[in-house]
Amino acid sequence: MIYFDNAATTFPKPQSVYLASDRWMREQPAAFGRGLHSAAVSAAQMVDICRSSICSLLGLDSPRQLAFTLNGTDSLNLILRGLLCPGDRVVASTLDHNSVLRPLNELSHRHGVSIELAKFDPLTGLIDVDSFRTCLNRGRTQLVVINHASNVTGVIQPVAELAQLARDAGALVLLDAAQTAGHIPMDVMSLGVDLLAAPGHKGLMGPLGTGILWIKQGIEPQVVSLRAGGTGSASESLMQPESMPSKFESGNLNLPGIAGLLAGVQWIQDVTPSEICRQINRHAGKLRTHLGELSNVLLYPQGCLPETTDTVSTVGIVSFSLNGLESHDVAMILEQQAGLICRAGLHCAPLAHEGLGTTQLGGTVRLSPGHFTTEAEVDRAIEVIGDLARS
Ligand SMILES: Cc1ncc(COP(=O)(O)O)c(C=O)c1O
Repeated sequence: MIYFDNAATTFPKPQSVYLASDRWMREQPAAFGRGLHSAAVSAAQMVDICRSSICSLLGLDSPRQLAFTLNGTDSLNLILRGLLCPGDRVVASTLDHNSVLRPLNELSHRHGVSIELAKFDPLTGLIDVDSFRTCLNRGRTQLVVINHASNVTGVIQPVAELAQLARDAGALVLLDAAQTAGHIPMDVMSLGVDLLAAPGHKGLMGPLGTGILWIKQGIEPQVVSLRAGGTGSASESLMQPESMPSKFESGNLNLPGIAGLLAGVQWIQDVTPSEICRQINRHAGKLRTHLGELSNVLLYPQGCLPETTDTVSTVGIVSFSLNGLESHDVAMILEQQAGLICRAGLHCAPLAHEGLGTTQLGGTVRLSPGHFTTEAEVDRAIEVIGDLARS
């Protein structure tokens, strides 16, 4: 198998991740925050170290402001549904994933939340700043959602610039870092965002079933907790704690998952995010260059982005269509002929495909190499796609 679907979930994980989750299940009996015995204390220590490690990796302050969730979708839902009130206005974009668009649409239909979607330029994949500004100026906006990097094109957005416009308009800023956390060097505090949602199982290298939610200090009172229950703290009260992170961590935490996530984050710190980013982008760059030379292949976005040695403009995602063929047919042939696993279709981002003009083709074929992808695998992918394009 040649795995090119790291944008869905990274595979393989570093060995230390498998070992940490396995060891946790075999050797650690306690649940987080339940009791003061030594096993519970060691669980609390591991969870605290994981919070601090993630914050230091992503440039987030106050590890206590970071809560563990089920995945990126869970984090986004907790914020969107917990923050937006009937009549509120939110600005997002047509690049957003269904994990943003579906909760927003439900909030719109059931609670009268109004949604404005900024457009993007299909040639560059960048959010159109004029369209974004127009959406902001149409009325008082409570929240802006920024897709850090599209899971269809891989293009990284100018978050600091967009967040500044949002703040000037008095809105809070939520960053969907699903495709960037762990994949590129990040200093989130310098971007000026208020809330961050990300999976633990993609770039952060943790197991499936892990996610993170970070809320800037002082903003948590504005977000209602959608879940309530045991937190192991303030048990005398019948009310859900208001303090972070307990407010969003009702019920037992996924400790084997968090132990694996901690090992993943420590692995990233050892290798360094810039090296991971450099390596994945080298593979993606080679794929783009070679596929772009095939006359039957169209790459998305279709224009070029300026790439310099110290800034990256894309994460390791390469989306293409082949000869007008249906994307699922192409993916099926690639798997049958070369054992190449990739993702075809709309990638849960239907409006991004509308914007790119790829809906009629059933979306695009997406290749997303990872840190453990080898040069030989990239060459094999180029070979088999080239053969298909020429046949
Ligand atoms: C941009 C984006 N946002 C959110 C998500 C949802 O993340 P999860 O699969 O962890 O729920 C994804 C997943 O692919 C994504 O690509």
